[in-house]
Amino acid sequence: MEIRKVAIVGAGTMGSLIAEVIAIHGFNVKLEDISEDILKKSLERIRGGLTRSYNKGYIKENIDVIMGRIATTTNLEEAVKDADLVIEAIPEILDLKKKVFSEIENYAPKHTIFASNTSSLSITELAKATKRPDKFIGMHFFNPPKVLRLLEIVWGEETSEETAKIVEDFAKKIDRVVVHVRKDVPGFIANRIFVTMSNECAWAVEMGEGTIEEIDSAVKYRMGLPMGLFELHDVLGDGSIDISYHVLEYFREKLGETYRPAPLFEKLFKAGHYGKKTGKGFYDWREGKTNEVPLRAGAKFDLLRLIAPAVNEAAWLIEKEVATPEEIDLAMLHGLNYPRGLLRMADDIGIDKIVNKLNELYEKYREERYKVNPVLQKMIEEGKLGRKTGEGFYKYGKGNYEFIIVEKIGKIGVIRLNRPTRANALNLTFIKEIEDALEMFKENEDVKVVVITGAGRNFCAGADISMFASGRPDLVTETSRTGHRLLRKIELYPKPVIAAINGPALGGGFELTLACDLRVMSENAFLALPELGLGITPGWGGTQRLAYFVGVGKLKEIIMLRKRIDAKTALDLGLVSEVYPADEFWEKAIKFAEELTELPSIALKYLKNVIAYGVMPTLESGCLIESEASGDIALTDEVAEGIQAFMYRRKPNFK
Ligand code: COA
Repeated sequence: MEIRKVAIVGAGTMGSLIAEVIAIHGFNVKLEDISEDILKKSLERIRGGLTRSYNKGYIKENIDVIMGRIATTTNLEEAVKDADLVIEAIPEILDLKKKVFSEIENYAPKHTIFASNTSSLSITELAKATKRPDKFIGMHFFNPPKVLRLLEIVWGEETSEETAKIVEDFAKKIDRVVVHVRKDVPGFIANRIFVTMSNECAWAVEMGEGTIEEIDSAVKYRMGLPMGLFELHDVLGDGSIDISYHVLEYFREKLGETYRPAPLFEKLFKAGHYGKKTGKGFYDWREGKTNEVPLRAGAKFDLLRLIAPAVNEAAWLIEKEVATPEEIDLAMLHGLNYPRGLLRMADDIGIDKIVNKLNELYEKYREERYKVNPVLQKMIEEGKLGRKTGEGFYKYGKGNYEFIIVEKIGKIGVIRLNRPTRANALNLTFIKEIEDALEMFKENEDVKVVVITGAGRNFCAGADISMFASGRPDLVTETSRTGHRLLRKIELYPKPVIAAINGPALGGGFELTLACDLRVMSENAFLALPELGLGITPGWGGTQRLAYFVGVGKLKEIIMLRKRIDAKTALDLGLVSEVYPADEFWEKAIKFAEELTELPSIALKYLKNVIAYGVMPTLESGCLIESEASGDIALTDEVAEGIQAFMYRRKPNFK
């Protein structure tokens, strides 16, 4: 069976947003709720969302045509009578959901699959309200679904393989990143980690390990989550402390006392401070106050103290065969907008360190949730300590990458920068993986040319700005030096390296292209060095290498005016060799690269050396000074202001 017609029961926030996503992808959808007024508001919300997406160029289809695929009704029978799939999105009240499902059962055809968008309730329990537990499943979307593409497909005890397969096929057609939650455990995957980690933040405050602001700052800037978890609770849905409190009470009931809400959650909940919507939450929002978390406030907070318990929760999910490490990380990336997978972070930190931290916490607080999960214990025994031992939750070594995709197309080695949820921003691990892939292609005699390009809509947004929250100039200098090492490696690489600039290349992304031998660009892409706007200076050769292309005058103009260089200007300035239409970009870029596969390899190697050493004799000393400067200014107030302003999407105010 294939899903063609969808009914959504409940036209609140989630019901409306789900309908929008489904209609965007070409499906007819019937939206049902109890009053015309709710449906009218829902349609207005959907139209607003579509207009924003259209204006940003994310959708091309006419908005009225998309709206034409959405029908509304207050009649439940009418909504579901010919549906292949019914998605329920009504309030999280078990009895209410069961009542509605038993009604739907009377009207829906035999083949119809029933799905609940519940974020916490048991699918097995809900299925009991129907006569088709095998065709009952959880489809847990995340808010906002246009940005967070995760879909947790939650299996009840009797859900059939076939049902899960049909729903998965449909989910892919509406651009979801699918993760199977094979047992409907409390919180499933993403919310289990999210809510317990938020509670852990609140426990850390309780235990005097940091203040709300310090912990938020560490989580937001150093760990790289879009927001601190307290901040997020205050603004998510205009305040969600009440929701997390209820979820924690539910965890306490199902998973044990150790999951009880931390006193800070309890205090706020009982006082009716749920976040922005009530004027107060973790922060005070009254009289239109804004609360910006300062960049370096959390420089000293021990993040491992939050990460280790979260990894322990993930290990529990693996132990109980709810999900695999890959699925858990996908859920983190696409449901919680983590900067990278939680278990990837654990592998980088080292499983031994994670376990030591858990033991330390257990010794100190005697809480069950800190007891090391057998999955972690086994990894220690087997010496699978993470990246440093070649294996942890993942395998490492040549060909096994976190941030890049490597492939061979004929004689061309392709390195695709693959961190699309962070606009392909580069960190140290990322850089090392590119170096490793270059080494691999160097040894491969079949590879004659290397092409570097970006996955998703961006080429690369430059260096990951999270390093500036560390309060460590040495780390900033090291990141700059590591970037220089990679770029110099490209310059001296014995094979031609081409940057196929598929989308925006900013900061370090632009600088990376400058070290390549040749550049081709999509007409939609642009180049820029926005660093000064962040209170920093370019750190990967932008202050040096670019001068060889455009001269010092133009160099200063590009850095100081921070203008976007569009494709035509880039061509005029001699920064790129060719510009291609967006829809033919990749095909043409590969063709361009193919033309370079026949060059004589010895002459080419000498040519690159002569240019690198002869034309740019001062490049390396210039880059050294650039790295020192990057480190030196890393602690200024200007950096704090610049990066904070970027994160809160406002103009910086440099004093
Ligand atoms: N470091 C860390 N995170 C970054 C980043 C960087 N350099 N650049 C972008 N991101 C994050 C964004 O904050 C956003 O996070 P969110 O989803 O939590 O909001 C996410 O990556 C996606 O970026 P977004 O801006 O939503 O994507 P886009 O496709 O609309 O725009 C850019 C892409 C590259 C134009 C835009 O991200 C940008 O201007 N980035 C800043 C580049 C910069 O200043 N680089 C110099 C750094 S030294």
